[in-house]
Amino acid sequence: MTTVALNKKYRPQDFKNGFVGQEYTAKMIDNALTQGKLSNAILLSGERGGGKTTTARIIAKGLNCEQGPTSTPCGKCAYCTDQLMLINEIDAASNRGVEEVRNIKESLKYSTQEGKYKVYIIDEVHMMTKEAFNALLKTLEEPPSNVVFILCTTDPEKLPATIISRTQHFKFGKIPVEKIMSHLKEILEKEGITDFTTDALRVIAEHANGGMRDSLTLLEQCLLLNEELNAENVYKVIGTVDHTLYLKLLLGMNNNNFEYTLALAKDIIYKGVQPKYFYKDFLATITNVILRKIYTSHDKEIVSQLKNLNTNTLLQVSDILQRDMKEGFIELTMIKLFQIDSIKSLRKTDIKEVVSKKEETVSPQQPIVNESSATTEVPESKTEIQPKDNEIVHSLLAFKVFSALA
Ligand SMILES: Nc1ncnc2c1ncn2[C@@H]1O[C@H](COP(=O)(O)OP(=O)(O)O)[C@@H](O)[C@H]1O
Ligand SMILES: [Mg+2]
Ligand SMILES: [Zn+2]
Repeated sequence: MTTVALNKKYRPQDFKNGFVGQEYTAKMIDNALTQGKLSNAILLSGERGGGKTTTARIIAKGLNCEQGPTSTPCGKCAYCTDQLMLINEIDAASNRGVEEVRNIKESLKYSTQEGKYKVYIIDEVHMMTKEAFNALLKTLEEPPSNVVFILCTTDPEKLPATIISRTQHFKFGKIPVEKIMSHLKEILEKEGITDFTTDALRVIAEHANGGMRDSLTLLEQCLLLNEELNAENVYKVIGTVDHTLYLKLLLGMNNNNFEYTLALAKDIIYKGVQPKYFYKDFLATITNVILRKIYTSHDKEIVSQLKNLNTNTLLQVSDILQRDMKEGFIELTMIKLFQIDSIKSLRKTDIKEVVSKKEETVSPQQPIVNESSATTEVPESKTEIQPKDNEIVHSLLAFKVFSALA
């Protein structure tokens, strides 16, 4: 059994119904369409899943619609349903060459009915070869009056300036988290799904990073669990953990508790988070702390305790995280973080002492991460929290090697 993917099922057919964000771009296109000011060569650029292809199709239909030109095409007439085959979609990722442009030029010879347009939507246009661009350039310079080119790209930087300067350029930004959330909520309601939490939608929307398609794909994946759509389940599907845990890493640093911080970092990894995502998510959390983008009252409480970590220190922490991201040796990263001067100055004992003490006392214990008892208490120096297994000894030994080399 197959079903239509949510992102296809809910592709907006016009700018009025279900088209989210991109207000200014949509308004400009709407005005250009209805006032006859649309150019024959249009460029739509922006991050993936923000509505470029959707918009290209709205323009293509809206130009020829029997009710048009309009940005709310009727969706029913012969032009909207493309029975006259005036809309051509070309994926430049797989048709990159000069041959493709030649085929387009060949098809331009056939004229259309008075006042109607042949529309060429060229997706991922930055993938075209240099020769193909050159061939296209001439056509863009003097396009036949009944032809409209809509070029879409996630990477306008890769386009020759000569192409860009010949187009009417519309930019698509990231869609704000709140708008993605309410769009997802609307879709869930239309699908008759009621057991979801707002937190889950927020985690999905944040993970999608401004792209509606990614948010819908993730939502669909989460629904496959057939359980309540809550934040915890979304984290599982993404392969990440509650961002509060990253705040707790900061708290561990703020309280200069190396053992706690290292054990917590390792526990996040044990939960199945890939090292690359550990760095990414930790960096995202730090950015949110710096920008004061904190949502829950529990998180706010943790952040209010981070008095020893000013913005400058947090920026130093992010520098180290960014540098270490490629290698992914989390233990070494943690050690480096505790070497930052402002954090080091808080230290009562040397990490080396912690190292030798731990070697004697390490024993396999419970995992330290316990989301249900979300406590913000991090002991200042000694901690009851025990590392999960002997791996911590290895990390601490790694530190010994590290400090011997230093
Ligand atoms: N601005 C938007 N409003 C509502 N849904 C959107 C928006 N942008 C994208 N989508 C959803 O994501 C899917 C893919 O969008 P698309 O226009 O193909 O993105 P792009 O071409 O920018 O990568 C659409 O089918 C739609 O479901
Ligand atoms: Mg697209
Ligand atoms: Zn129509």
